[in-house]
Amino acid sequence: MRTQIAIIGSGPAGLLLGQLLHLEGIESVILERRSRKHVLSRIRAGVLEQGTVDLLCGAGVGERLRDQGQVHDGFEIAFCGLRKRIDLRGCTGSGVTIYGQTEVTGDLMDARDAAGGALIDEVSDVRIGALQTRQPFVEYTRAGDTQRIQCDFIAGCDGYHGVSRSAIPRDVLREYEREYPFGWLGVLAETPPVGNELIYVHHERGFALCSMRSSSLSRYYIQCASDEVVKRWSDERFWDELRARLPPATARSLVTGPSIEKSIAPLRSFVAEPMQHGRLFLAGDAAHIVPPTGAKGLNLAVSDIYYLSRALLAHYRDADDARLQAYSEDCLRRVWKAERFSWWMTSLLHRFPQAGAFGERIQQAELDYLFSSRAASVSLAENYIGLPF
Ligand code: APR
Ligand code: PHB
Repeated sequence: MRTQIAIIGSGPAGLLLGQLLHLEGIESVILERRSRKHVLSRIRAGVLEQGTVDLLCGAGVGERLRDQGQVHDGFEIAFCGLRKRIDLRGCTGSGVTIYGQTEVTGDLMDARDAAGGALIDEVSDVRIGALQTRQPFVEYTRAGDTQRIQCDFIAGCDGYHGVSRSAIPRDVLREYEREYPFGWLGVLAETPPVGNELIYVHHERGFALCSMRSSSLSRYYIQCASDEVVKRWSDERFWDELRARLPPATARSLVTGPSIEKSIAPLRSFVAEPMQHGRLFLAGDAAHIVPPTGAKGLNLAVSDIYYLSRALLAHYRDADDARLQAYSEDCLRRVWKAERFSWWMTSLLHRFPQAGAFGERIQQAELDYLFSSRAASVSLAENYIGLPF
């Protein structure tokens, strides 16, 4: 098989790249390890930066997003029993859009099918070769049959646990990582959200987050030990712990119900440099991971694809490879700022037992400064809505 771009992974990064390339008449093949059904069943975050919304609409997959996405002009931070609002629109002139990543992935997969683009799922043994030549290839096995795809370029959009990053030689690849001593226990419930906007909670018992997918579908998280297991958390225990971390008036108005999804996600910050090697380009979680506190994971995948699609178009349309050569540098400048913001939000809002009483006082001072300084609020707001591409 021959194509122009071989894309490994059909998450948001791989699917969006395939769609943007299709619109420019550039052919691609997407390889996916899991089944379509599994990919579409994943529950992930749901906060889209305006840049992400604009790119998805420009890619022709914005119809349901515009129809069902909820524009939020701010969010709240609860601490010391109070709820204080960060006025995103007042600080920056922009807001964010609440629209589940599951929906984004579904919209992109529908567009892939409508375009007749090749998406080969349930593949195994994906192998990348000849990266330093003009004829790189990807090999894979499906139903016992091994195939080779000759291509011009390979996009590694296969997430943190994919194979692409390991195709970069160990003496070239540099990895930067910070593990956090806790995770997030998340619940999805068919209940009305407790607030009209998101509520991030700093509490001595631990962090909590009240989010939503719609006016009848709520998403809640509580900080838990990094070795916690879901089966130890009944719905009742989860709701009791969430209420214990909310301001009293908010806890009283919380509507609970049976969880339709419950899972634990570890928190880590991770960046792999460089994000390219020869004809391989990494994008999204394959190259970087952020703790979900800043809601940057999906948005960073989208901005990587903005740079990569633009660079590939310059190659094919203008025979200009300057942007391809600068891809990693262009992405990492924005990635590291989002890593900093995500680390800062996580450091501000979570309970760090090992930080002791001094660490708790620093958090209180940071929160006090945040709500007593417009400059501090504007700084948070401009990072939360997304820095320019
Ligand atoms: N071969 C083919 N596909 C693979 C392989 C492989 N060896 N390894 C992983 N994959 C697939 C996964 O099954 C997944 O569908 O690659 C896809 C990677 O998708 P994501 O993990 O969603 O990563 P990305 O597209 O970069 O999107 C990042 O997704 O996980 C969230 O929090 C993350 O919001 C962020 C967003
Ligand atoms: C979510 O709705 O899942 C969500 C929202 C904001 C975050 C993380 C997750 O920071």
